Amino acid sequence: MNNILAPYHQKGFQLKNHLVMAPMTRSRATGNIPNNLMAQYYGQRSGAGLIITEGTSPSPNGLGYARIPGIFSNEQVEGWKKVTTAVHDGGSKIFVQLMHTGRITHPDNLPPNADVVGVSDIKAAGQMYTDSLGLQDYPIPVTLTTQAVKATIAEHVAAAKNAVEAGFDGVEIHGANGYLIEQFLNPIPTTVQINMAVILKPGHHSGLK
Ligand SMILES: Cc1cc2nc3c(=O)[nH]c(=O)nc-3n(C[C@H](O)[C@H](O)[C@H](O)COP(=O)(O)O)c2cc1C
Repeated sequence: MNNILAPYHQKGFQLKNHLVMAPMTRSRATGNIPNNLMAQYYGQRSGAGLIITEGTSPSPNGLGYARIPGIFSNEQVEGWKKVTTAVHDGGSKIFVQLMHTGRITHPDNLPPNADVVGVSDIKAAGQMYTDSLGLQDYPIPVTLTTQAVKATIAEHVAAAKNAVEAGFDGVEIHGANGYLIEQFLNPIPTTVQINMAVILKPGHHSGLK
């Protein structure tokens, strides 16, 4: 127990203790913009040395669940500043978790002009909750072209830069649970061989602290 509560210090990175709060989607970001309620929620949890935020989309296309936040617009960056300030005021550090949900979404959860995208046109099994229609079957995604994959990578880079601007201490990329990155790794939705090294190339993380 003593070790858990002792400060953590490695490679120039310091935390007040070894406690880390796991990322948890809360669906409180009305309009996909972080708000005062979220700043209060994260500030209340700054007893942990490090907080990982709820999954946060780097793209309008990645806002899979109702009311999850994004980090691709100026309004979202301004909203996140309230959160990082509240957490820093509590003496804690905070990483944003970038989560692009890919085919795990429904058009009703997405803003206008956003697309349900995937690594193929194979839809996921199951249903997604939407605010206006309740549970709905997952739709058939639009297959990402090579060009669209590159655009999605650029969205992740821009989101990481936005995270630095918003005051985050780091970025975590969600690569599991059937969301976009995991869709490239999973043989079930993947019909073509795609080299994930393109997406995970270290140079693309240059915006991360
Ligand atoms: C309500 C809820 C929302 C969650 N949202 C996310 C999320 O946005 N990103 C993520 O990586 N994991 C998410 N998780 C998973 C948790 O971070 C954690 O990995 C999971 O609850 C297992 O933790 P445990 O082994 O300590 O029980 C969520 C879990 C819950 C219960």
